[in-house]
Amino acid sequence: MVQFTLPKNSKIKKGKVWPKPRIANGRKKPRTKDFRIYRFDPVSEENPRVDVYNVDLETCGPMVLDALIKIKNEIDPTLTFRRSCREGVCGSCAMNIAGNNTLACTKAISDISGSVSVYPLPHMPVIKDLVPDLTNFYAQYSFIEPFLQTKTPAPEKEWAQSPEDRDRLNGLYECILCACCSSACPSYWWNADRYLGPSALLQAYRWLSDSRDEMKGERLDKLEDPFRLYRCHTIMNCAHDCPKGLNPAKAIAEIKQMMVKRNV
Ligand code: SF4
Ligand code: SF4
Ligand code: FES
Repeated sequence: MVQFTLPKNSKIKKGKVWPKPRIANGRKKPRTKDFRIYRFDPVSEENPRVDVYNVDLETCGPMVLDALIKIKNEIDPTLTFRRSCREGVCGSCAMNIAGNNTLACTKAISDISGSVSVYPLPHMPVIKDLVPDLTNFYAQYSFIEPFLQTKTPAPEKEWAQSPEDRDRLNGLYECILCACCSSACPSYWWNADRYLGPSALLQAYRWLSDSRDEMKGERLDKLEDPFRLYRCHTIMNCAHDCPKGLNPAKAIAEIKQMMVKRNV
């Protein structure tokens, strides 16, 4: 349920300011930047803190993920974060950078003026440092049954789909399940246990829109609930923060329309 003040052990304390790096080749005007990074170690029983790392940008790649990897390799090996593809396709490196949820691997350091704040995705339990616990998020994805379901016997070759019907999935299938949208959604913050959130609902709409799927009625039945679908208040944070440029709020509005149409 809603909690407006942080419990004592969640209050963020001032952390360590790590020593500045030695500047390669003795450059007189070093191009460096501070990264202010959220740290939390569940084993230490200490409050979370924000550590400051100064990074030499001349010897660092252009993206925030490059800086995190450099910090981990050269300054502080205990810094913990998820990443895999470094191409914006796996969704692992989603975090809150300079106040917005985004992917560290596609966020350019040069887009951020001043120091770079890096926090885990908001309003999710933190496992360690920048790693959120996505158990509930994935359970909600599983709940919408994200796979083709049919009732007629399977065809000999494949389920055919016209190019026009395939085009209806554009803007939906590209979701990489990064959770940037759901963790930016105020309705999801307050009711993550009962509201499915923008990511799961975008995927629900992806299957509701698939011309080959024959379980539309059953899919809508599962969503017909005061919390699962109807907690969206069209605040649009989801669309604002989606790094793939998708619009979950629009998908949610389309599901609501489907509900109305089947009830008239
Ligand atoms: S539009 Fe709906 S799903 Fe998107 S952020 Fe707002 S309340 Fe959440
Ligand atoms: S809709 Fe966008 S922000 Fe949400 S999970 Fe998919 S890719 Fe990430
Ligand atoms: S590392 Fe895969 S999306 Fe960033």
